[in-house]
Amino acid sequence: MVSLSPTLQARLSTPLKIGSFEVKSRVLQSPLSGVTDMVFRRLVRRYAPDSMMYTEMVNATGLHYVKELPKIMEVDPNERPISIQLFDCRPDFLAEAAVMAVKEGADTVDINMGCPVNKITKNGGGSSLLRQPETAEAIVRSVVKAVDVPVTVKTRIGWTDKEITILDFAKRMEDAGAQMITVHGRTRAQGYNGAAKWEWIARVKEVLSIPVIGNGDIFSVEAAVKCLEQTGADGVMCSRGTLGYPFLVGEVDHFIKTGQELPPPTAIQRLECAREHLQALWEYKGDRGVRQARKHMTWYAKGFSGAAELRGQLSVIETVDQGLDIIDRGINKIATGYQSELELESDFQFA
Ligand SMILES: Cc1cc2nc3c(=O)[nH]c(=O)nc-3n(C[C@H](O)[C@H](O)[C@H](O)COP(=O)(O)O)c2cc1C
Repeated sequence: MVSLSPTLQARLSTPLKIGSFEVKSRVLQSPLSGVTDMVFRRLVRRYAPDSMMYTEMVNATGLHYVKELPKIMEVDPNERPISIQLFDCRPDFLAEAAVMAVKEGADTVDINMGCPVNKITKNGGGSSLLRQPETAEAIVRSVVKAVDVPVTVKTRIGWTDKEITILDFAKRMEDAGAQMITVHGRTRAQGYNGAAKWEWIARVKEVLSIPVIGNGDIFSVEAAVKCLEQTGADGVMCSRGTLGYPFLVGEVDHFIKTGQELPPPTAIQRLECAREHLQALWEYKGDRGVRQARKHMTWYAKGFSGAAELRGQLSVIETVDQGLDIIDRGINKIATGYQSELELESDFQFA
């Protein structure tokens, strides 16, 4: 059983202040490319209505030349609080993109300085900015000047184990005008491997005055509480733990606010959520949405008997109806299983 110390609960009971913007939750849904579109965010928000969500990262150079809002930047006028995340290495393009983000409804603008993917770093964006702190500073200054919403940064602890530069880097971001920093406790070289080094998040927290959000390996309520306790961070950001599990942010938020753990969703509830996710992706993106849904569906189909078979079928769906039919059959199979277990139990009780 997870427990929450009164000191921690008291520390987290006030709103998270990102500059002038207040958020009523200390638990954030991370930006996830290919995942955190409007459909996914709507599901997460159902269980975590107060939490800050992020769009997928948007390329500022692309915006500069195309001048048309990409679908990944779309925000529902009713979804709040919301941050639009941008990436690039050009301060002027990022400032321009930030203005578009605010017009679209962003409550804050976040700059990605952590993405490890070659395609992004070789063009000077994402985590390569950890090696170009002057450019990173110029970016923050330029974006802060361009918009009147808070500007935040999401980054890693360094390039490699031998080059952990986060303390100096984070201070520079604060001095340049960033109003919050999220620290993913891994180096660029780690990618998503090995454990996140939360001790560096604790060190960042010691040297900054702006809020520091801990990120990396928050896969459960227990992990979230441990991270908050061990780092002194002002909040936690959930990432891979939400894949096929849009309940996580709400579970952590509920626990922090009440000290009570919510019962986990049943396999049927998870599959019902998968069903809704698939249907909504199809309505929002058409056939492309169905192709994107394949990975989500395989993430949902985990942890119950018959899940492997379901995953195999869902990973190759061609149409929405085919996917819905497979999920419905999965749900029926689980329900029938419960029924026969109940029958067995009642036979036993009355025997
Ligand atoms: C599929 C995937 C997509 C991601 N996309 C983004 C992104 O667009 N922007 C960003 O800042 N981080 C992105 N990340 C990194 C996560 O937000 C997070 O920092 C990282 O997964 C560490 O947290 P975790 O160990 O809890 O997963 C992505 C990670 C994954 C696995």
